[in-house]
Amino acid sequence: MAQKVIAGNWKMNLNLEQSLELIEHLNTKEFDEDVRIIVFPPALFVQPISSLIEGDFEIGVQNFSQNNNGAYTGEISITQSESVGVTVGLIGHSERRAYNSESNELLKAKVNHAVVNNFDFIFCCGEPLSIREAGKELTFVKKQLQESLFHLTANQINGGIIAYEPVWAIGTGVTASSVQAEDMHKNIREWLTEVYSTDVANSISILYGGSCDVSNAKELLGCPNVDGGLIGGASLKAEGFSTIIQSY
Ligand code: PGA
Repeated sequence: MAQKVIAGNWKMNLNLEQSLELIEHLNTKEFDEDVRIIVFPPALFVQPISSLIEGDFEIGVQNFSQNNNGAYTGEISITQSESVGVTVGLIGHSERRAYNSESNELLKAKVNHAVVNNFDFIFCCGEPLSIREAGKELTFVKKQLQESLFHLTANQINGGIIAYEPVWAIGTGVTASSVQAEDMHKNIREWLTEVYSTDVANSISILYGGSCDVSNAKELLGCPNVDGGLIGGASLKAEGFSTIIQSY
């Protein structure tokens, strides 16, 4: 069985004081030990947050460089991230693809760099609205996975995490229906079975992301092939984020 994961992607929101308040509030909550909980604050705040966190939360970075330390102005490396307590990084969020021109090829390099460094990652995929309207979402998402992820060996991908985030559902308040989410997740699981094996496919957590909040989390997370959520806006409020984690 794939591990249940709930991750909060804060994006470029909150200042330091608000970030610490959110963590202090989360510290007062109790969560099921079976759920892997990860927060992705702005990288600037990772260190103060990691000294404040009391529960079994992990801290992730929203992005990291495909290079080792060196002359890459504005970038952060895996080793730097690990040195302040980060255990996992996002790869290929649709906002990075759209605003930072991150191509499937570049994302493949990040995947490889993470694997070489034994650094956990959540690989994000998902189609824009025009592709969904044309009925080509399966082909589109499969290509993203084929070009950036499916070159890994079974050992390398085993136990990994994929997040399906339809672009049209991110930050829009329009969520995928549980039928749409389950359909894509089931297909991703089938592709993993074809490329690797049933065992590998079942070891990979496939998260849903895109306007997932307290009103729809139970239904989305209840789908057989949805192993968790990557939560944006709704992860910025401790009460709502806790309720989503407790939906399991
Ligand atoms: P949202 O964002 O929950 O605000 O739609 C999800 C994400 O982009 O990870």
